[in-house]
Amino acid sequence: MTTTAPVGIDLQKAAREHLWLHFTRMAGYRDHEVPIIVRGDGCYLEDSNGKRYLDALAGLFSVNIGYGYGEEIGEAAAAQMRELPFYTNWGYAHPRAIELAAEVASITPGDLNRVFFVSGGSEAVESAWKLARQYHTARGEKRIRAAIATSGQAPTRVDEARAIPQSAGRRWKAISRHIAYHGTTMGALSINGIPAIREPFEPLVPEVLHVRNTNRYHRPVEETEEQFTAQLLDELEHTIEAAGPETVAMVIMEPVQNAGGSFTPPAGYWRGVRELCDRYGILLCADEVITGFGRVGAWFGSERYDIRPDLMTIAKGLSSSYAAIGGVVTTDRVMEPFMEGTSMYSHGITFGGHPVQSAIALKNIEIMKRDRIVEHVAEKQDDFRAALAQLLDLPIVGDLRGTGFFYALELVKNKETRETFSDDECETLLRGFLSPRMFERGLICRSDDRGDPVVQISPPLVADQHEFDQIIGILGDVLQEAWERISA
Ligand SMILES: Cc1ncc(COP(=O)(O)O)c(C=O)c1O
Repeated sequence: MTTTAPVGIDLQKAAREHLWLHFTRMAGYRDHEVPIIVRGDGCYLEDSNGKRYLDALAGLFSVNIGYGYGEEIGEAAAAQMRELPFYTNWGYAHPRAIELAAEVASITPGDLNRVFFVSGGSEAVESAWKLARQYHTARGEKRIRAAIATSGQAPTRVDEARAIPQSAGRRWKAISRHIAYHGTTMGALSINGIPAIREPFEPLVPEVLHVRNTNRYHRPVEETEEQFTAQLLDELEHTIEAAGPETVAMVIMEPVQNAGGSFTPPAGYWRGVRELCDRYGILLCADEVITGFGRVGAWFGSERYDIRPDLMTIAKGLSSSYAAIGGVVTTDRVMEPFMEGTSMYSHGITFGGHPVQSAIALKNIEIMKRDRIVEHVAEKQDDFRAALAQLLDLPIVGDLRGTGFFYALELVKNKETRETFSDDECETLLRGFLSPRMFERGLICRSDDRGDPVVQISPPLVADQHEFDQIIGILGDVLQEAWERISA
């Protein structure tokens, strides 16, 4: 266990009076204790009352190496603090950002070779969309410059400025999927496909189109996987056509979609998405904020599903959340127009590539390699699935989906008809009963109704059979209790 947080104040009182929790109905804490987590080790957390929890959500799908490496990572952070506590990537480099960029380039698949660092997942998604927009303009400008150059005139900057209309090659639209979560800053939020978190902030950033996700559970049972894939790709193509392909900058999707409950891709899906992007000159961004760094039993979902993205967004697992760091990784092809003349990606963030955050991420990757964390997931993923599959015997569990250490159970009212719960039932079942009861029983996982109601299970990647058994033991009891309540 790491050392205790300093206790100079009444934490409960100060939390209620001063701390604003994210995505939280704060009124609920007028009469209830704020859960205060004070330490962690391995897959376990301890609260301020000394109670232990199995964290089957790895923080927020993010503490990939678990909570037990604080000492070692802390030393790397302290060493960096002593050497250079801060410098920027605005026009400068420093050793840790360089080393981390090279390390990320070496573990990401294909020619994803260039890394632009940011502070987290939302900023990564935001930056990917901005980069895609500027990439198309930069390419358009490059074409026009080449045309001027071959016309035999010696071009001046004034000639170029006249010849290059503002709109040269300009593309701005993004396509993402329904119910997908991609973050909360205005650009990333606009890409989200979750109505409830979009609506309070409309009008959002123009223009995002949403296509169907790969949720197969509510499709007709007689539909084959090929038919399902074909329908999804047809819809994507029609959406591109309707939007005007020359206006679409980027398609952004997670290799396995989290919100809605671990939607894995059907066979042929990613190959088809890649082909459509190539056909229409659109950049493909794999949002690997969750799926990156081992979660799906490979270093990246892009490797596992052979996605071949042009852009990849990373955060969470990059540092196992020991630091606030994310990034956009791009291919040599995407970088190319930015290596010409005065071209520049007009974007930057003070903390992007922060030396201490970079040192932490580097140490995290070193630990993941040394302790064979990704191999462990690949070796244990079948056992994990087999353990979770036992829960399919419960009357309330309709579906188990996911891969690696990234799973969801969909809860249903009727297994035969796959009938789901009403909004009111979700409110009483998920918020009113399941979440607090799991917590009471010492299990942290998420009950979520951003799509159909699911319980999401995504433990630290160091979890093993002991944790799998504990998860299904507690979840089994709580889900059975939930069923008895709902059918009483
Ligand atoms: C796929 C995906 N993209 C982006 C984000 C946003 O990341 P952050 O919360 O670090 O801003 C998340 C967060 O859960 C995510 O799951």
